[in-house]
Parts: sequence; structure tokens; C-alpha cells
Amino acid sequence: MNCCKPIGLVTEFLKNPLGLETTSPRLSWRIEDARKGARQTAYRIVAASSAGKLESEEYDLWDTGRVEGDNTLDVAWGKNFGLDKRRAARPLRSRDCVFWRVMAWDKDGKPSPWCETARFEIGPFGKGDITASWIGSDTPRDKPDLPVPMFRKAFRLAAAPVKARLYVSALGIADFSLNGHPAAEDRFTPGWTDYRKRVPLVAWDVTPLLHEGENVIGAMLADGWYAGFLDYHGKRNHYGTRTALLAQLEVEMPDGSRETVVTDATWRYTEGGPVRSADFYRGEAFDARRTVCGWDAPGFIARGWRRVALPPVADIAFCGRICEPIRPQAVLPALRRTEPAPGRYVFDLGQNMVGVPRLSLRGKPGGTITARYAEMLDADGTAYTANYRSAKSIDTFTCRGADGAPEVFEPRFTFRGFRYIELTGDFATPPECADVAGVVLHTSMAQTGSFECSDTIANRLWSNINWSQIGNFLDVPTDCPQRDERLGWTGDAQVFVRTAAFNRDVAAFFEKWQRDLADCQFPDGAFPDAAPDVLGGGGRCGYGDAGVVCPWTMYLMYGDKDMLRRHYKSMARWLDFWQGVCNAHGVVRYDGGIWHFGDWCAVDCPVDENGNPLCNMAPTPSDLLATAYYARCAGIMAEVARALGKKADERRFAALRRKVAAAYRREFVTDGGRVAGDTQTGYLVTLGFGLVDDPGTVARMMDRLAFLIESRGYSLTTGFLGTPLLCPVLTRFGRADLAYRLLQRREYPSWYFPIIDGDATTMWERWNGYSSKHGFGDVSMNSFNHYAYGAVGEWVYETVGGIAPAEPGFRKIRFMPVPGGDITWARTSLTTRHGTASIEWRLAGGKKVGIEVTLVVPPNTTAVLELPGHAPRDLSSGRHRLCFKM
Ligand code: BGC
Repeated sequence: MNCCKPIGLVTEFLKNPLGLETTSPRLSWRIEDARKGARQTAYRIVAASSAGKLESEEYDLWDTGRVEGDNTLDVAWGKNFGLDKRRAARPLRSRDCVFWRVMAWDKDGKPSPWCETARFEIGPFGKGDITASWIGSDTPRDKPDLPVPMFRKAFRLAAAPVKARLYVSALGIADFSLNGHPAAEDRFTPGWTDYRKRVPLVAWDVTPLLHEGENVIGAMLADGWYAGFLDYHGKRNHYGTRTALLAQLEVEMPDGSRETVVTDATWRYTEGGPVRSADFYRGEAFDARRTVCGWDAPGFIARGWRRVALPPVADIAFCGRICEPIRPQAVLPALRRTEPAPGRYVFDLGQNMVGVPRLSLRGKPGGTITARYAEMLDADGTAYTANYRSAKSIDTFTCRGADGAPEVFEPRFTFRGFRYIELTGDFATPPECADVAGVVLHTSMAQTGSFECSDTIANRLWSNINWSQIGNFLDVPTDCPQRDERLGWTGDAQVFVRTAAFNRDVAAFFEKWQRDLADCQFPDGAFPDAAPDVLGGGGRCGYGDAGVVCPWTMYLMYGDKDMLRRHYKSMARWLDFWQGVCNAHGVVRYDGGIWHFGDWCAVDCPVDENGNPLCNMAPTPSDLLATAYYARCAGIMAEVARALGKKADERRFAALRRKVAAAYRREFVTDGGRVAGDTQTGYLVTLGFGLVDDPGTVARMMDRLAFLIESRGYSLTTGFLGTPLLCPVLTRFGRADLAYRLLQRREYPSWYFPIIDGDATTMWERWNGYSSKHGFGDVSMNSFNHYAYGAVGEWVYETVGGIAPAEPGFRKIRFMPVPGGDITWARTSLTTRHGTASIEWRLAGGKKVGIEVTLVVPPNTTAVLELPGHAPRDLSSGRHRLCFKM
């Protein structure tokens, strides 16, 4: 576009959010302008309390007037730029509704038209600000397979309202409806937090769902994370046995009057509804014969429905909207049907995905149809479910089957990872492909990255990494979505976070999870092994470090200093923890006190008598890894302090880093440059975290690392902590050739092996979770949807593709493709907060004599192109086409 236009307006990283918990939200936009040198030279934000006022230029909330400069990010509400008082922003209060838009002046001083209007709403702020009470059923949820209660409340309105907001929360997971319509598309409301400390209060605009006369709010409440099975010890009720929900409907009438309907003792409930049981691990049992027609609509007589209980709920703080909810994102139709045994129908969706099925079933009256799920098929073509461990993941549907018409079943209170759906049972007519689909669920996050190159397997790898990310980003970043685990494992997120931020906009998602981490930080500063914490352990190297690495990565990828500010203390406390477990020199003592996971799943770890890898006994010493991470986090904290202008802290953390790095070298590095344990991972952390700087030692270590790779037949031996460093370290120290050789290796162990040998459509927990030669691996840990090894994605974007941040938030972009292997072209793009950057490179003439590069630099940014063997070239915003000799 050859003019300047503000687009992509967000408030606190969210599109048109309701229920914000801050009164000074930050407003951001980006500029669309394809011209060379495009930039914003000034902007004006205007805001009003209604869309109408905004249109008629009655800016009753804010008018910044013209503000000089190119900033488009994080303008905090109320910042009045020293303008005259009449232009100051009105302070925001709970329930304020703000409509806003932006005008921008381009590089030539020409103003843009107004952009599209965005909006946000503030509050409520929790307890003192709402009057609703927690309600629930009388049945303690202390055993499995209890029916899901349904709640209802009827009320009258004198007219259709002009505005209605429904504020809800739950200890459990709830589905709300108004007059028979879903109140929102959201699933598993209100998500997963440490309910002992904090629970979200979710806000929805429900204006169109209400009318004059009788209206009804309905709700169903399942156990979810609060009371259902959660963890691999077979435990449930981690947070309590009394599930509860809370709702406050606030209505504005045409005459300006207001009405409020709240959860209280007048609500009624029944446990006689169709959802006979529901659990994340176990699945859902739905009895269509018990469907209560019209239960959440006017005119229904709630005969036999009971008065709700008012469960005592401990003091839990409410929080507002921090990240987007989980919603259905796509529907994958079944591609193939097989019948491996009579009456056993197996449907292949063609993609390992996470969510629920959508089934259209024709069953016999009162007959039951059973759905089992699998990521893989057994040799006999039936569902392979052993790797789900105790998560039985079976849904059952009991048919009414009254008139022969198809009945639709889509469970609401469970999910799992699967590619195959196996149906058996009392069919009147066997199901066809057209009757079966998978509904993909995950936290809403805009896709920001794309990648394609001449190597189709690399493209499949990129796709697999993306599918494993979305399949595991359901309110928290989980390790896997299928077995009796699905926990927010910190180590996995720590290694994957940068890749995640290339693939999708995860700024709000990681802000939410950082709070989860902080909520369960231990008194000694240790971050937990998984957050929210239901395991009780913490302080493990490469795992708890997520509490420092993730917010720092968010800053690098999105330039968000506020996140650093908010979490600064808690991040610094992680260093206190390390300090508490190291000796006077700064070496972390591994005296059996802390059982580290170490280089989890390393290929070179010993095996037990059955040949199963002893993951925690990988040969890279744990105290080495822990000390390396301690130094790394001290270094990050010095950078954080610098970014925040905390000079004394910066000096303190930098000195700490020097001390720990020196101690590391003394303890773990020989004069000749050998690293204790002599493993690939040992050299990778030493080089990758910059723990040696003497060029001679670096060169010797690189030689040794290369030897350790070559002598294993050009193969990796690393685990979760080492693998992500392989390609970046090899490239940084001049061995991109080896990095490509590892990437494109086709035999076990490698990124390509599961794709070539196992038709993988997601990342696997183990390179050989399945192999055509040996079949399935050890079932105790065999997830086919585990993103940790997908952490190579950041290198794919940065080195194969060639896009990296040169300054935090991509204010300056580094295009630094390093072509290699047999890849002859690559096309990569990234929607940064400033706009979309892209690069396409192509080796010319097929003889690798030259390279053509086409780049797009977003407005308001600059870039540098760094090609191997060429001097860096500075670039302004706009499109550039360049050719170079190789
Ligand atoms: C998870 C891993 C995790 C590990 C901790 C496993 O059960 O699936 O991804 O990192 O535990 O060592």
C-alpha cells in the first residue's frame, strides 16, 4: 500500500479486550506503508465512551492531539505528553468502555485517514467490585464419573437491553448460555491458574442474546483442572472437592436504568442432565436420552431442580483478562475410514491434533457408541492407546435414536491429542467419513511466522513444530496433550519459547504463564518444575530457569519492558535460589539434594535392563548444567537491569555472572579445553552461554564438539537441554555445514527420521517413539506431540530463513540467512509488532554461484543484511531486491 495507514490496534496485546484489570492499559498499532523509507512521523489517538461519540468527533475520554515521533507501541493510557489540560486523558474506572482510533502522519508529513475503531473495557476488579456469590451443587466432587450439574436462573427484563455484560468465573470449567445460545465461543472457562491464589473473572458482551420478557442464564460446571484428574500419580482434587461458579449479568436498559442478575441462593440446579461424566483424562459420557430440551431458555418449568449450595470458597483473588481464551480454531474432516475388525471403524484425520471430535451419529435407540482416540495405529490397524498411560480418553454417546435422524456429539468438557478416532457400538447406520471430524482447540494466538524452502521435509518439520505448539498451548504451555500429564513443564517451555514467539503472537500467553510461575514460586526463590504447580517440586536446572528466560525472550521478541518490570523481583529471586545451593565459588553443588532432570531424554543416556533410557542419568553432569544455567540467568538479569535502567543491579548481576562463569571454568573446563563429561551438550552450553571467551579455547572446544558429532556418524547425542543449542552454536562458530548435516540427516536420531520413517505430523518426545524396524518405544514416555525438539524452529527462522531481531522487538531487524545443505531457496516472513518482515533468498543458476535476495523491511524499522562473505548492508524500510556473488 502506497500510503500510510495504522492497522492492528491492540490493547495490552489483546484485540478489543473486555475485562481488563488495569486502568492504564497500553495501546499499540502498526503502520502499513509499503514505500521505501516509510515511517510514522507523528500520531494522534482519540478515544470516546461510545462509537457514536467517536464518529461525531466528541472525544470525551482522550485526545492526545498530534504527538511527534515514530512510536506505535505501548502508549499507556493517560500519558499526556505535557499537552494542555483539556487534552489529558480521563482516568479510567471499572466498567468504562473505551472506543479509540489512531491517525498517523507519514514520512512526508501527510496524515492518514482514521483507522478502524478499536475498543476495550475495564474491570470489574474482583471481590469488592461484584456482588455475585459462588454457587455449586451439594455433591462433593471427590470421586470420578459424577454427572455434570446444570444450573439455571430465569429473570425478566422490561425491554431488550442496550448493553449487557456477563462476568463469570468458575472453580472447575464452565459453559454458560443465555436463552439457549452459548454466551461465548470460549472453552474451559475460566482456564487454569493456581486456584489457591487467583482465578480469572471473564467478561463477555451478551447484548444480542437478551430480549424483553423472560430470559434465562444457564451454566454447566465440570471438574476440569480444579477437581478432575491431573498429574501422573492418579491424583484428582488438587484444588478442592467443591466446584463452584459465579456469574454477574449487568444490563443497561434503553431508559438508562440498570439491572443486575447474580449467582445466589435463588438459582436452581439438576444433576439429571445428559453429561453423565466428564474429565480431561478420562473423557466424557453423554446420554442423549437425558437431554433437557429448553432448560436454558424461557418457558421451561424446572420441576425437581434443586436449590443451589453456597460452597464456602476461600479467599481467592480475581484477575482480569490477561490472555486470549481457548476457542475452536479449525475443523479437520476425516480423510479415510478403515474397518480393521468387524464393526470397528477407524477414521484418520491426517493430522495429529488436539481438541475434541465432532460426530454425526446414527445409533439404535438407547444404544451406546464408544469413541476411542489415538495418535498412532497399532499393527492391526486399531487405535494405539498405550502411550496415553492412565488417561483412558474414551467418550461414550448414548443415542436417543428416536427418529433415525443423525445426532451430533461434540464433548464440551474434555480434550486430548489424537489423529485417529475409533468408533464402535450400536449403530443403526455405520458412520462415514462425512460424519466424523476433529475440532482443533487452543488458546487464540495469531500466526506470525511462515517458512517454506526447497526441502519439502524441512517444510514438514516446520509444520510439525507449529502443530505441536498449538496442540500444547491451551492456557498453559504443556509438555504433551494426550497422556495423564498435560502439565506446564518449565523445561520444555524454556527451550521452546523463542520458537513459539516466531510462530505465533504469544506475548499475552507468556505474560499469563509468567504469573502462573510467580504464583507458585517457592519461598527460597525456586520456580516450580511445572506451572501451575501440582507436583510440588522445583529448582531444577534448565527448568526453573524458565522464570527468567521466558520474560527475557518476550522482551527480545516484542520489546515489552513492562513485563520485565512486573516480574523483575520474582526473576531476581531465582538467582537467590541458585546462590543458596552453590558453594562459595559459585559452583552449584550436586550433592543429591536436588534431583535434576538434566539433559532429559539425551540419546547418550544409559538404559535399564529392559533397554529403556534412564533419562535423568544423561552423562552431562547435572552440576555442570546447573552452574551453566546459573551463569546464564545472572547474565540475563544484568541485561534486564540494563534495559530497565537499574545501574547498580546491572553491575551486581554482571559481577555475579563473571564470578559464576569463572567458577564454572575452574570446575568443569580443563586447560586444554575439555569440558567435564565430554558430551556434546557440555560443549554446547559452554559455548552457547558464552562461558569461555578465550578464542583459542573456543576453537579447541569447537573441534572437540565437531569430533563428537562426526565420530557418532554425524549424529546428535543430546537431550532436551542440549538439542536446541546444536544448530545455533555450530552456526555461530563457523560450522553451519555441520548444523545443516544434522538438520537434514534422515536416519535415527534426527529431526527428519520421525517424518520419513513414521509419517509424523507433530514433534515427538523421542526421535524413535516409533520406528518401522522396532515398532513403538517405551510406553512410559512416548508422546507423539511434544514440542521440545521443535526448539530447532528458531534456528530455522533465523539461519535457514534469515530473520532475527537486531534490537528488542525487531525495531531493527537482522537478515542473516546462511544457506547450506542442499537447500536452494527459502521464503520466510514474520509479522513483528511493527509490521511484516520477509526475506526470500535463492541460489542463482543452480550452481551456487550467486544469491538473489528479496526483502521487506516494515515501516518504522531499519534492517541489516548480513550474508556470509559479504560486508553487512544497512537497509531502510520498504522492499529491496539484491544479488550477490557467493
Ligand atoms: C515430560 C517432559 C518433562 C519431564 C521432566 C516428562 O514427563 O513429559 O517433557 O520435561 O517430564 O523431566
